[in-house]
Amino acid sequence: MIKQVFFACLLMCNIAHAEPYGNADAAAGKTLVVKNCISCHAHSFGGDGSGIYVRNDRKVKTSKGLVAQVRTCNTMLGLKWFEEEELNVAKYLNQSYYKFTE
Ligand code: HEC
Repeated sequence: MIKQVFFACLLMCNIAHAEPYGNADAAAGKTLVVKNCISCHAHSFGGDGSGIYVRNDRKVKTSKGLVAQVRTCNTMLGLKWFEEEELNVAKYLNQSYYKFTE
């Protein structure tokens, strides 16, 4: 019994501290962003376009919101990314700019 409680806790603690994007591949996400996303953001925000992610009034406030935003862009641009690719991109953007922990 004690053993079971211990393992249940271990599992939950792991989930609580897990990265929001699971095993997504941030490096693959970066490649996708560089190829598909930067030029337009750079055009409106200058530099490498990353200003859009760190501006004071940025739209995205949570990991969930980030995934949703990436999905919206994917659909809007007709990129036909798989969910896995959306998560890769969201993870990359989070690691590099947003830094959400949950
Ligand atoms: C055709 C131009 C264009 C392209 C291409 C584009 N974006 Fe955007 N993106 C925008 C604009 C404009 C905004 C700001 C929208 C606003 O402020 O309401 C934005 C906002 C965002 C935001 C939210 C920034 C914030 O405020 O927190 C994210 C995340 C984002 N884009 C991701 C992407 C991704 C990922 C791609 C590639 C799939 C992409 N965008 C491609 C124009 C573009």
